[in-house]
Amino acid sequence: MLQLYWHKFVVPYWLLTSVAVVCFIIASAAGLAAPLIIKFLIDGALESGDFQYLDIIVVGIVVLYFLRALFTFFYGYNMAKAGCRMIARLRAAMFVRLHSLDYSYFVNTPTGNVVSYFTNDLNLIQQAVAVGVPDLLVESLNLLAIIAIMVYFDWQLALVTFVTLPFIVYAISHFNRKLAEFGSLLEHTMAKMTSLLHQAILSTMMVQSYGREDYEYRRFRAKIHEAAVDLFHVQRLNALVIPLVEFLAAIGLTFIIWFGGREVIGGDLTIGALFAFLVYTINIPGPVRKITQAFSSMKLGLVAWERIHDLDRQPHTIVDGHLDLDKAVGRVEFRNVFFRYTTGGDVLKDVSLAADPGDVIAVVGPSGAGKSSFANLLLRFYDPDTGAIYLDGIDIRSLQIGALRHQIGFIQQNPILFDASILENIRYGRPTASYSQVERAAKLANAHDFIMELPRGYDSPVGELGANLSGGQRQRIALARAIILEPVILLLDEPTAALDSHAEQQVLAAIRNVSTGRTTFIITHNLSTLLASDKVVYLDAGRIAETGVCSDLLARGGAFARAVDRGELGYKQ
Ligand SMILES: Nc1ncnc2c1ncn2[C@@H]1O[C@H](COP(=O)(O)OP(=O)(O)OP(=O)(O)O)[C@@H](O)[C@H]1O
Ligand SMILES: [Mg+2]
Repeated sequence: MLQLYWHKFVVPYWLLTSVAVVCFIIASAAGLAAPLIIKFLIDGALESGDFQYLDIIVVGIVVLYFLRALFTFFYGYNMAKAGCRMIARLRAAMFVRLHSLDYSYFVNTPTGNVVSYFTNDLNLIQQAVAVGVPDLLVESLNLLAIIAIMVYFDWQLALVTFVTLPFIVYAISHFNRKLAEFGSLLEHTMAKMTSLLHQAILSTMMVQSYGREDYEYRRFRAKIHEAAVDLFHVQRLNALVIPLVEFLAAIGLTFIIWFGGREVIGGDLTIGALFAFLVYTINIPGPVRKITQAFSSMKLGLVAWERIHDLDRQPHTIVDGHLDLDKAVGRVEFRNVFFRYTTGGDVLKDVSLAADPGDVIAVVGPSGAGKSSFANLLLRFYDPDTGAIYLDGIDIRSLQIGALRHQIGFIQQNPILFDASILENIRYGRPTASYSQVERAAKLANAHDFIMELPRGYDSPVGELGANLSGGQRQRIALARAIILEPVILLLDEPTAALDSHAEQQVLAAIRNVSTGRTTFIITHNLSTLLASDKVVYLDAGRIAETGVCSDLLARGGAFARAVDRGELGYKQ
């Protein structure tokens, strides 16, 4: 924790933190001096009956407490500033890190967890670093100073005080520990609830259409209940701690007054000194409480830091290559590729195929045959277990991932649009594209006409995840987004699945247009798309069962033709 504190907080923001330390020293010096003045007040002004002296001393006390308040504020101000900057920087670094993670991480990690790294956990770290650690350091100093002054005043009375105090301190720290335990339990429950809520929000439409509101409510209610119980534990303990500590403190104080009172009567101590001493004593629990809080906050911060580091610890199974590639020719070859996900059996088995620029290759097969996985491998979201994939004869694992993906115009099975205008969405991969380039790509993708019918044309917002558009419209925007990159390879996962036959013909025409000179893979369920392709690769349970020109395959009556006949592939005839 101290290391984290030093490297991420003190060093980068040394100016802010050192100003804060100076402010703190001034504030605490003022605070420590005030009781001394009270002593002069009682022993000097009150005893001698000097009104002017009294006024001066009272003004002095007010000034000291004012200084203390002012510089405590400056201290907090500077610390908060440094803390917020640190968190912003960490958050930014984490966001960058997020995009560098393997695709498989997101498949296997609940979104709620990742979201809570950015919110809860970072807040805990900020608390620990900008409040916890500094409090621990400065309040310890403060406490030492108070103790020194007390010993200086009257070591016997100080001794009595220090025998009484540890009991109180122990009680406080015991409860604080319990509080921290319940706190982290609560944290955990909240994270689970957030994750569930996140899913619930995303799936409202599905839930409503299936009429499972009750079921979802019951499921969520269990979590609500859990959270309420945990919250209650924390707050119940809170409710107990304060009166208990106050009671113990009162007992301790009374004991000190009794002992000190005897000394005053015996003539060993002035009334003013006893009074000042009591004020110092009252000032002890503050720093002690802050120190124990600092400890628990540091512990929580450390746990959060560990969790966040989960992002850094993710194994990079996809290792970036070193070869750059400006413009590939576009010859793609799969050689004896076997692949499986971390769970389950082989998804692709001994897949070998080659494609040249100008080829339009249809990858077909029943659902679950491994077609999308084929695309995932070509894009290097995963690497094959054995065998290799080559682009222009180079193993794609030795290419820079950025350079490889730049060659490929990819449309996902369920294309994602961003919550921005249509224009921004189309030129996502090429932000410098001009309006006319965007328009040309949209025309090729047969999207221009419907875009012009929207109230704001290319500036129309598409809504969150493209919610304002129909499925087919989203698909065509995604096609335009791929086309505008002028990629060497086009990789289209079910590009016509959501279109009616008229729009489908137009998109097919668009694909034929843009496929000249490019290597095109179309994953499809659609017979007219198949007929438009040069070559069909028929995948069955991860294995290439048959390849050839579609009409030949149908005529030959092999595995592919039989599957089409049985309607197993779900092709539109
Ligand atoms: N992330 C994953 N982890 C584990 N198994 C997976 C994962 N993604 C897909 N699979 C499995 O791999 C197999 C192939 O999936 P894939 O998505 O490639 O099928 P597909 O041919 O694209 O099917 P569809 O036509 O339905 O899109 C399926 O059995 C699927 O359950
Ligand atoms: Mg698929």
